[in-house]
Amino acid sequence: MRILAIESSCDETCAAIVEDGRKIISNIVASQIETHKIYGGVVPEIASRQHTEAVCYVTEQALAEANMTLDEVDAIAVTAYPGLIGALLVGVNYAKGLALASGKPLIPVHHIRGHVAANYIAFEDLKPPFLCLIVSGGHTMIAEVSDYTTFKRLGSTHDDAAGECFDKVARVLGLSYPGGVNLDKLSQGGKVDAFTFPDPKVTGEPLSFSFSGLKTAAINTIHNAEQKGIEINKCDFAASFNRSVANILCSRLMDAAKMTGYKNIVLAGGVSANSHLRDAVQTACDKNGYKLYMPPLYLCGDNGAMIGAQAYYEYQAGALADMSLNAQAYKDIF
Ligand code: KG4
Ligand code: ZN
Repeated sequence: MRILAIESSCDETCAAIVEDGRKIISNIVASQIETHKIYGGVVPEIASRQHTEAVCYVTEQALAEANMTLDEVDAIAVTAYPGLIGALLVGVNYAKGLALASGKPLIPVHHIRGHVAANYIAFEDLKPPFLCLIVSGGHTMIAEVSDYTTFKRLGSTHDDAAGECFDKVARVLGLSYPGGVNLDKLSQGGKVDAFTFPDPKVTGEPLSFSFSGLKTAAINTIHNAEQKGIEINKCDFAASFNRSVANILCSRLMDAAKMTGYKNIVLAGGVSANSHLRDAVQTACDKNGYKLYMPPLYLCGDNGAMIGAQAYYEYQAGALADMSLNAQAYKDIF
């Protein structure tokens, strides 16, 4: 089954064709980074407008690269939630138009489920059940994935997502958008123990997170140094901050594995590209005898292929939509 998938939930306009949930036939990503860079973050109105401009082109490119016509596609999938509402609406309405015109089934996909499914493309042998750490710009969560469309939350952030925390600290440090990846780059070769940061716990929820205190502590360290005229070593600061976030995520994930008994561990979401997180989780999994699945870097960020992969399993579960499909800014993964 070949699915044409559209993704426009944030600042990347994407279209992909994926076969049987596992194989990429084509995968086109039009990034808006250069546009949003001058504002230091995503401007929702501009994102929507650029999606409108790019969505036809990326879809035509995805079909052309696959050497296929719309007629040869078996279904149309689209990220319908969660995300920036104006951005989502562009993809949803475009996909509805394609489905209506072609008479093909329409499959709505949850963006975060798509991030998890990026791993099905990368690892042929990966099948639920498994334990998953989902870390993106808007989500931070440890979930049990008991089958392709059944998720159970074991813990999640009570305030900022890990990606948000990276981006805000990067901005205060003077790095350009997108902050997370630049903070990761800056940290290479820095001293990971030059600065210490708190590891806030959520009372009664051992597998949950709170990143706002950590973020504030990091920002205060920068501001205090500025006020005193002290120049901090940005590379050491970045390394220490990256290591702290990675250790928090990794330690909760290992606790979750011990509590649940899962031996297969999966990372998902944009922050799974973080080098410190990848190292920390790989080391911990090796030590404990767990098998770790991490998406290759090109599948960590937003892309259409991951939506096409998850759509295949949503289709098998009968989760189709009709022309009443609407985008939703917020929606639980469960
Ligand atoms: O999953 P994603 O592409 O979009 C959402 O669904 O939110 O995640 C984007 C987030 C941003 O906060 C970005 O800064 C962060 O992932 N990110 C990173 C790295 N690459 C992307 N954070 C830390 N280190 C990275 N290497
Ligand atoms: Zn995403």
